Amino acid sequence: MRMVDLITKKRDGGKLSKEEVSFFVQGYTRGDIPDYQASAFLMTVYFNGMTEEETAWLTEEMANSGETFDLSSIAGKKVDKHSTGGVGDKITLITGPLVASIGIPVAKMSGRGLGHTGGTLDKLESFKGFSIDLSREQFMGLVNENKLAVAGQTGNLAPADKKLYALRDVTGTVNTIPLIASSIMSKKLASGAEAIVLDVKTGSGAFMKSLDESRQLAETMVKIGNNLGRQTVAVITDMNQPLGFEIGNSNEVKEAIQVLSGEKITDLREISVELATHMALLAGKFATYEEARAHLEACLDDGTALAAFRTFIGAQGGDTALVDNPELFPQADYHIEVKAPAAGFVHSIDAEGIGTAAMYLGAGRATKDDDIDHAVGITLMKKQGDAVQEGETIAVLHARDAEAADSRNKVLESYTINEEHIEKMTLIYDVIS
Ligand code: URA
Repeated sequence: MRMVDLITKKRDGGKLSKEEVSFFVQGYTRGDIPDYQASAFLMTVYFNGMTEEETAWLTEEMANSGETFDLSSIAGKKVDKHSTGGVGDKITLITGPLVASIGIPVAKMSGRGLGHTGGTLDKLESFKGFSIDLSREQFMGLVNENKLAVAGQTGNLAPADKKLYALRDVTGTVNTIPLIASSIMSKKLASGAEAIVLDVKTGSGAFMKSLDESRQLAETMVKIGNNLGRQTVAVITDMNQPLGFEIGNSNEVKEAIQVLSGEKITDLREISVELATHMALLAGKFATYEEARAHLEACLDDGTALAAFRTFIGAQGGDTALVDNPELFPQADYHIEVKAPAAGFVHSIDAEGIGTAAMYLGAGRATKDDDIDHAVGITLMKKQGDAVQEGETIAVLHARDAEAADSRNKVLESYTINEEHIEKMTLIYDVIS
């Protein structure tokens, strides 16, 4: 088999066989196929797409390209949750302990964030002492004991995806449904959960800007998961503005603690409970959606979910005093108010712009070797649909320098304020199973 023949076949609209897909994935992972041929191949996929079957073969081959996890020694049905990524997305910090608190095992392998703010691991490391370096035995043991553990993704989980993602990043081939779907699902399959709930974000701050594209991505991933023996459900949720009010690392953890303590932070609680409800249903814990939802809401309101969070943080070496006294998290030096330039209603808040402003403050990484600062971030004081007066504070920057001019300008640019009153956005668009 020759790579050039696969490239020309895809270029001319042909369909690859399972053997050809394996040849590409294995050859590229081993280093036998050079970057220039893999790049050309990715570009043919970008323009000509892939059939359902090709996408499933690609996913399976990438999932099996490295270490795979067998979670069978953990009692109960393991349910994973994955988000396609958004700004202010701290939902895993809520859904994890929430579903664990009703006895559903969550064995979560997470990555670090590259971009606006840290990933789940970075956020958790806001807790002094918290360790994500767990051996397999420790990881399984903690899930069996507490129903929840979060570990760093090993370097050898779906290495084909790792290599291909890095190439896609520099060849303009990230944004295409078969490649995104296979990339995400290969890691989920390799991580070993029996059921998966996908939070597919849609809107200006998401990979997929339109609802149609988001639905296509969701449908593709759900089909891959179900066809490969993992029950999969996707919930399409809004990312036309940041989620919740906090963007950063320790401030996002604080907001998650608020929701776990029963506070009604509307969008964050609503989406978290929706996703947790689907996790609980997939785990077979409840007969109806309504029953699952009511039970989970009660666990947020009566402290059960917060107790599970405290146990989880303590079990991985984190300082649990911070759970009960979030004011003890390290603080930034300056808290800079950004004022509304005019009166009116907040029409939109560009999530990507706010994410970039948080990165300027040091909350995220521009390259994978950058350090992140857990204390810096942004608090949004006004969200879409809110009325504002001229000069009123719309956001607060938690910064290390007194000016933070780049970040302040970016926040101002990200807010659109006009005279027209607008309704609040839909939070949940669709559920696909
Ligand atoms: N997240 C992934 O893991 N892969 C993609 O291709 C896009 C988002």
